[in-house]
Amino acid sequence: MRHLLSITDVSVEELDQLLEEAADIQRHPDQYASAMAGKKLATLFYEPSTRTRLSFEAAMLELGGHVIGFAGAGNASVSKGESVKDTIHTVNCYADIIAMRHPLEGAAWAAAQAAEVPLINAGDGGHQHPTQTLADLMTLKREKGRLDHLKIGLCGDLKFGRTVHSLISALSRYPGNEFILISPPELRVPAGITAALDNADIPYRQAQSLEAEIGALDALYMTRIQQERFFSVEEYLRLKDSYVLDEEKMRLAPKDMIVMHPLPRVNEISVKVDQDPRACYFKQMLYGKFMRMALILQLMAWRNEAPAVPAAPAVITGRPCKNPRCIFTTEQGLEPLFHPVHHAMIQGEMTRIPTKYVCAYCEMEQV
Ligand code: NCD
Repeated sequence: MRHLLSITDVSVEELDQLLEEAADIQRHPDQYASAMAGKKLATLFYEPSTRTRLSFEAAMLELGGHVIGFAGAGNASVSKGESVKDTIHTVNCYADIIAMRHPLEGAAWAAAQAAEVPLINAGDGGHQHPTQTLADLMTLKREKGRLDHLKIGLCGDLKFGRTVHSLISALSRYPGNEFILISPPELRVPAGITAALDNADIPYRQAQSLEAEIGALDALYMTRIQQERFFSVEEYLRLKDSYVLDEEKMRLAPKDMIVMHPLPRVNEISVKVDQDPRACYFKQMLYGKFMRMALILQLMAWRNEAPAVPAAPAVITGRPCKNPRCIFTTEQGLEPLFHPVHHAMIQGEMTRIPTKYVCAYCEMEQV
């Protein structure tokens, strides 16, 4: 069974294939109008969503399929205490494919353990959001003409912004890309992401000033400060206005730089920037629908295949995950699973002894 939990669940060749198929769907929608006839997509949204849920639903309907599901945990049995896995056991009986969004990190990995149909991670807490990345890749491909040799500025909440984590992971697989990570020190990308960039020798720089960096970027990816992930209201209030992209800053940007944002925006992009031809965030959401159509088609076609990228072996350590935002904190009966990481150089040799463990659900390094 193949799922899309992380963007690395598809190979680069498959990503390119999805991009081509999405472009073909956009050109010839009629040819796909009954591709999913008789099939049902279940959208299980435990967390607010406008674009992701509606674009999944529009995607399935435009493929001639049907949609069932819920929007808001208050409307589902989770409000009575049902686990994610029991909900998935239920949905297995009614749907052919599932798109799930959940506020806890790693929730999609826990759900996939019970899924008997392809499962798509539509966002798990502050962790990953691979289908937004599909929309982002189509935007870059269309608007910049390539996915390689790009200097990309990512700005805002890089700690909790799940779209940023998945996008960095995807663009790291194409040659010549460079990341400028613009955030307040408190909202820098998680250490696991910089460690992966370091290991792969991918150029990146942490920065704080958007004005100082904007002049040399091919694409600027703005993000919302993720209020719902903060444990402290004071900290959110202190950081919420960290960056505002306005007309004045756009004057410092190259003529061919594009501005992206997964949306929703709060105040981090002035509405005046919407008229600027470099603003691509509304196109981005249209591309998202075509990419989700291509993804649904491919996951249904691949459903009996083994994963393109085999899962890393996991071990049970007996100790629970330490991340308070991990699905492990609430889901009953979940095995504490960890992936050993072996990459420390000891006396010039790559050691085979695990140097640390990351949670198999939320990927947080355990200390
Ligand atoms: C993003 C998300 O939910 O992570 N939105 C989206 O899916 N388009 C970004 C955000 O909420 O800020």
